Amino acid sequence: MTNLRKFSIDQLIKIVEQGGVVKTGIDVYNSKGMLLLDKDILVRKAKTLNIIKENGIKHVMVDTSQNGGFWNENGDQIIVKPEKIAIFFDEESGEKGTTPYPDTVTNDVEMRLIEIEEMKAQAQEKYDNAKGCIKKVLGDIEKTGGEFDFNAVESHVSEMVSFLESEENPFSYLTQEIFSYDDYLYNHSINVCTIGTAMLNRFNSHFSKHVDHLIKGNSPDIHDPFETNGRTKDQSYFCYYKEDIQDISLGFFLHDIGKVLVADAVLNKEGKLSDREYAEVQRHSFEYGVELLEKNRIKNSFVRNIVEYHHAPLLKDEERCYPRGREFNKVPVYTKICKLADIYDAMTSKRCYKEAVNPINVVTRLFRTYAKKDSMLQFILHSFVKSIGIYPPGSIVYLRNGQLAYVLESRGPIVIPFTDAHELTLNSKQDPVDINAPDIKDSQLIDNRRSVKSPKDVFNLLPPYLRKIAA
Ligand SMILES: [Fe+2]
Ligand SMILES: [Fe+2]
Repeated sequence: MTNLRKFSIDQLIKIVEQGGVVKTGIDVYNSKGMLLLDKDILVRKAKTLNIIKENGIKHVMVDTSQNGGFWNENGDQIIVKPEKIAIFFDEESGEKGTTPYPDTVTNDVEMRLIEIEEMKAQAQEKYDNAKGCIKKVLGDIEKTGGEFDFNAVESHVSEMVSFLESEENPFSYLTQEIFSYDDYLYNHSINVCTIGTAMLNRFNSHFSKHVDHLIKGNSPDIHDPFETNGRTKDQSYFCYYKEDIQDISLGFFLHDIGKVLVADAVLNKEGKLSDREYAEVQRHSFEYGVELLEKNRIKNSFVRNIVEYHHAPLLKDEERCYPRGREFNKVPVYTKICKLADIYDAMTSKRCYKEAVNPINVVTRLFRTYAKKDSMLQFILHSFVKSIGIYPPGSIVYLRNGQLAYVLESRGPIVIPFTDAHELTLNSKQDPVDINAPDIKDSQLIDNRRSVKSPKDVFNLLPPYLRKIAA
């Protein structure tokens, strides 16, 4: 049975402005048939509804039988009665009519921004829950000397994994700490879990297709990812099962758990670590981390390998790797993925002793260091770039006209120019530009010849509204 009710857009705006949440349960289109709001989106921002209003839509249907409804600021569902709707009169004819849907021009990019903002809000909720969880885990370890609630971790990670699976480009919706370094370890655990899981999903789907081809034998000339100079290495093909991904993600989330047993003074030291201090930091993986897993009777080998070997070498004779004696070819693929996600997040985050590096530079560096020397790493890094895009969110790029722009979303990418051609901050809020749009001007394309700046360099140039998104 449907339960469809008509609400004025102003009434919905008022609810959201007061901290409430609205879900229509029914798609909202404009007069041109363009989807303005997906039925399943939880609307938390008045801006989303204002854009619908700007499209000339005065009333929206909410279908509670299709999971539509209203929630207050505490997340409790509430019942809202439609306000009395004024009858609309056509001014020219003076006749009673229905709500007018004027033929307004809509902006595709603006609509994508709404989508991103809403998804970001949903991702933020999961991020906050996971952050609460890892805070509690680390706090419990400190209090009890090692014990924590593994079931709670499992349920939070599983929620994050299903969110990551459902999104085409989930990485775009997650937060990176570029300009601040509060709560580093908590954010790092979540980021490595997010980036690693997205990479793993991508790696898996590429591999599945590849294996499928090979099994069916319908493409005898297909090159396999391990092939080097025309010769195929003796490697077996594999994919990870869904349950494995769940366990591997758990490992990503807990990879640095052993750090809780390393003194803060050593972890956050600004200068160079002494040999003794560096040896102490190393113990977080193969010693403290493993100890904590054993204390909590966590026997999962995916989790154990990640915790123990996420600093092991990816290449023969790679330096500054541990534990000693672990050969690069004995490190499982999922652990290698963890190490790459770990390096990416550590480099792109601000720490008390270092600034964040621009994500594009990090991707380039990872490719230069690893991809050319090992075909498997090349394959993993391709999965990585497919997950985060060549221009990851948060990057700063030059446009061909000399403007600096902030990458809002890697898909496209969608960028917001924030300076003029002389690198002076623009006072007015700029419209986002979809670089992939067919009508894009040559001057608006990304200038790949100019070296990109680090986020720190441009932080002072960012206008306040972008600092808010970026921080
Ligand atoms: Fe680590
Ligand atoms: Fe780490």
